[in-house]
Amino acid sequence: MHRRVRGEDASRDRNTFRKRDLAAAVAGIKGAVSFDIGLGPYTSFRIGGPADVLVEPADIEDLVQLVRQARRQRVPIFVVGGTNLLIRDGGIRGIVVNMSALRSIKDEPGQVLYVEAGVGMPTLISYAIRRSLAGLEWAAGIPGTVGGCVVMNAGTRLGEMKQSVQAVRMVSMRGKVIDIPSSAIPFEYRRADLPKGIVAGVWLQLRQGVKADIQQVVKEYLHYRRETQPLAQPSAGCVFKNPPKDSAGRLIESAGLKGMRVGDAEVSTKHGNFIVNRGQARAADVVALIEKVRRIIRRQAGIRLDLELKIVGQR
Ligand code: EPU
Repeated sequence: MHRRVRGEDASRDRNTFRKRDLAAAVAGIKGAVSFDIGLGPYTSFRIGGPADVLVEPADIEDLVQLVRQARRQRVPIFVVGGTNLLIRDGGIRGIVVNMSALRSIKDEPGQVLYVEAGVGMPTLISYAIRRSLAGLEWAAGIPGTVGGCVVMNAGTRLGEMKQSVQAVRMVSMRGKVIDIPSSAIPFEYRRADLPKGIVAGVWLQLRQGVKADIQQVVKEYLHYRRETQPLAQPSAGCVFKNPPKDSAGRLIESAGLKGMRVGDAEVSTKHGNFIVNRGQARAADVVALIEKVRRIIRRQAGIRLDLELKIVGQR
């Protein structure tokens, strides 16, 4: 990553070279490019240190160009999908990509939609309802992007992403556009085993349904989630995976941990498997709270809670 010139002051040369490498990596990009920008506003947790540079590619060609240039300059790329993510307080070195400008949805024959990665799940669900297409009701209330939901095979008790994915369009780390049929993608619990690269879009196979019925399921499910989850507070969704045949939220509640705090990070009083940001929480607070919860559940229930939340960036 860091090129060094022998005989020069290492830290100075690192900074100058990095700035130049970064500038070269984003040269000519059509979408928005911002240097040294805090990532909190780009996450549902509203937490996160700065990116060296944040890029919002205008379209897939822009993304391809960015990936190729970044590879040439040996600058790493990280994509923020936004929801199941905690970015540490030191932020992310290199390029951070936000896909929100890739937000088109195209109808294809046979109840198939081609959806670009930056489309928000709520937007997609509304679109599907307008066309009486069923199959995504499980995702009502998930705030993430379609791309993020594919990568983590997002799901709820009603269903999961893999049930609808027909194929995924990716930009490989070499900057090639590749289409992968779902039969070639091993989907696991909250994970899709995709090749290295960036998801640019996905073909979703939906079903013709009855608009009022789809609307009804979405409404009831949203209601259930609003009743049981702290959807009005910044969070990253569920923090832990559910252990086999149990619920992390139930375990945390029965250990009496709801409302426990470190700084402004709090175990939600509504749902034990959510940590909410009460305003000024830092990533370090969230991480400390996670460790506390884990230790107590391990000691009291003998169960190891695995993270569903992805923690990235520098301390
Ligand atoms: N429960 C408690 N206390 C709590 C939370 C839950 O006792 O604080 C009990 C509930 O009463 C219920 C059981 O635990 O009997 C299950 O709770 P819930 O229906 O809320 O589901 P969950 O297993 O906690 C899963 C998903 C959620 C998804 C909901 C609803 C995981 C880790 N969690 O939660 O997904 O929204 O079902 O379908 O798979 C997410 O992925 O970010 C997420 C929040």
